[in-house]
Amino acid sequence: MDMQKKIVMSGIRPTGFLHLGNYFGAVRNYVRMQEEFECYFMVADLHSLTTHPDTKELKENVHRVLSENIACGLDPDKAALFCQSHVYETSELYLYLNMLAYKGELEKTVTFKDKVRQHPENVNAGLLTYPVLQAADIILHRASYVPVGKDQEQHLEMARNFANRFNHRYGDVFPEPHAFNYGDELVKVPGLDGTGKMSKSENQMATLYLSDDDEMIRKKVMKAKTDSGPTEPNSTKPDYIENIFGLMKLVSSVETIAKYEGDYNNCVIRYGDMKKQLGEDMVQFITPIREKAEGIRNNPAYLKEAMEKGAEKARKSARATMELVRQAMGLNYF
Ligand code: TYM
Repeated sequence: MDMQKKIVMSGIRPTGFLHLGNYFGAVRNYVRMQEEFECYFMVADLHSLTTHPDTKELKENVHRVLSENIACGLDPDKAALFCQSHVYETSELYLYLNMLAYKGELEKTVTFKDKVRQHPENVNAGLLTYPVLQAADIILHRASYVPVGKDQEQHLEMARNFANRFNHRYGDVFPEPHAFNYGDELVKVPGLDGTGKMSKSENQMATLYLSDDDEMIRKKVMKAKTDSGPTEPNSTKPDYIENIFGLMKLVSSVETIAKYEGDYNNCVIRYGDMKKQLGEDMVQFITPIREKAEGIRNNPAYLKEAMEKGAEKARKSARATMELVRQAMGLNYF
């Protein structure tokens, strides 16, 4: 029997530069998954319109996100790498799913409530139904695995609900989509200021971008909050110190981590040295990605070809699903 590969889908909004959170929460998994699964990875340009209606910089941002994904190791010949707006079927499925999504549950979504707080002047219907569009992206390819960071957990739960609701009402079309990470738990990369997660929109100095130059990386890391160090052996780390160790675990060697763990537990840690080391390890990690991404961004012909290839694969999969959807819904009148 032909063993069908499980299907994987994920997306990133083109609202700014990719950062370390995007890499360790999402892109790192994409790169591994493309070897094992049938993968659809997308630039979520339509989602970005919910908060960034001005489209002047969209093209540049889409090119940048694509370049950065490829620089991280995504291969447009292995995965379908595409733009959300190139797959018109998304909008059709989004419409159908909107009839199965309730105002109450949408209003309770954490990301919606955050956005309402941040931009009370632009609480549009697209923002409210953001998780419905995301569910459409995912189930349009009948995906089972969705590699995302921890912040997307609730959106995935909603996607599962919408898929199940559709199946109950109209018949089994969609597998249940689940958030995925290699390793036990979904990842949350903290910011350098010791509060919250690394993000595109919040404190810029607390976020390490894959496009930051070496001096900027060092500067940001050196600014990370520390204190005068522990006074009791083996004491619990405050959050902001735990975060620095957490970042070190992403990019530094086991020996380096063991040294600073030991120094911390023996109350001889020098945070200045630790941050200097972390800065260098971050530079080592980010520089090759930044340089590769720049090269790709300066090659619009290659990007165009990659996008076209991706769109073609994604549309093919989308068309097949929408045939099943219309059939199941009884929208076939002849
Ligand atoms: P976005 O663009 O905010 O983030 C892209 C990916 O990066 C992950 N991420 C993080 N992971 C760990 N730590 C962090 N600090 C961190 N910051 C961001 C996110 O979890 C995400 O995986 N709604 C989505 C885009 C989207 C999508 C989809 C995702 C649209 N359609 C379909 C999956 C499937 C978003 O805004 O991601």
